[in-house]
Amino acid sequence: MAHSPRKGSPARWAAVVLPPLCLGGLMAWTAGVFRPPSISPSHFMQRFHNAGALGDGFRRAHAKGMCVTGWFDPSPKGQALSRSGIFKGEHLPVMGRFSLAPPLPYLPDNPAVARSLALQILSPKGDDWRMALVDVPLQSMRDIADAYAFFGAAKLDPATHKPDPVAVQTYAVQRPWLKTAFEQAKAHKQTSDLTNDSYNSLDSFILTDSTGKKTAVRWSVVAKEPFAPAEGSGANDGNYLFKRLVQTLDQRPLSWDIVATIARDGDPVNDPSQPWDAADQKVTVGTVTFTKAYSEDESPCGPMVFDPTILPDGISVSDDPLLALRSSVYMRSYATRSAEHKAPSMVTPGDVTNPTLTPDGKGQ
Ligand code: HEM
Repeated sequence: MAHSPRKGSPARWAAVVLPPLCLGGLMAWTAGVFRPPSISPSHFMQRFHNAGALGDGFRRAHAKGMCVTGWFDPSPKGQALSRSGIFKGEHLPVMGRFSLAPPLPYLPDNPAVARSLALQILSPKGDDWRMALVDVPLQSMRDIADAYAFFGAAKLDPATHKPDPVAVQTYAVQRPWLKTAFEQAKAHKQTSDLTNDSYNSLDSFILTDSTGKKTAVRWSVVAKEPFAPAEGSGANDGNYLFKRLVQTLDQRPLSWDIVATIARDGDPVNDPSQPWDAADQKVTVGTVTFTKAYSEDESPCGPMVFDPTILPDGISVSDDPLLALRSSVYMRSYATRSAEHKAPSMVTPGDVTNPTLTPDGKGQ
């Protein structure tokens, strides 16, 4: 026979007090009392606003940019890795956008700022492959909490119109897991131009071949133009990077290889802040060639959203938490800017049809 705890004993007290406490705790938990406040795309919009995003129809990040069009030619090695129609061998149209990474649409070009490239490759059967890549070696955030803190630290100080260096330093110091990412960013040698720069997805993706075999990769879009250092490049024109890209495209097409770095066991697929093994195999899956430049004010790439989770069959997202975050925030940025009257971009249609700089950036 079971004995009930004696009246007044600790066990009796526990039996009386614990059930309502647990029930209350459960109700409070389901109501969100103990969870940190959730971070939504709107919170990120506020952080971009604090970091200098103007609104006015501009992207909330990578706000200064210019559009390009051209072609993608796949290599047979792409088809071996992914069953995507993109790699079936056809010469496919590409739309791209070069940009500066900050949220500032009127930022003068300068060598200190990170640059980026976004691509959309379309097949006649409707395969749509969008990518958004930057020229830094590793991502300086690993998850949503880092991303929120990172853009918080980018808030402009009203006195200097620059992020507070102490906030940026604190962000780095409080996150020892980002040490390598910051070291590699510091060691990164910036190129003279957008044309000889290479761009990285940082986030990882999963390729599926025709047998169902899966391969985790990181993408790089690697310049075929020779390296030249940024030092000494002409910064006497606030659009010199974009104008020199236009000027080169006026003379000849420009090509980049799309290279997959293949993950080996131990490479962290879900964390873009960590390096992969330097000996990982690299496979060129195709070449992208741009033939013409446009101001984003007169190109379909202006309104386009290069959400990196818009992918064709045969390419899918990895379990990197930043990819889902990026998708929701890019879509919010897109929805917000689409509802605004667009102010003129810094790279105007006139800059694209009448470039005035010589290749040394000094102007004519
Ligand atoms: C691996 C990390 C990332 C890479 C490589 C990357 C790259 C890029 C590039 C290249 C663009 C410009 C696309 C264009 O030209 O339209 C872009 C846009 C943007 N990025 Fe990221 N990004 C990353 C992470 C993030 C994160 C974590 C956030 C915020 C949570 C973010 C927010 C944005 C926003 C708001 C835009 C503008 C979207 C639009 O209005 O179309 N990015 N990103």
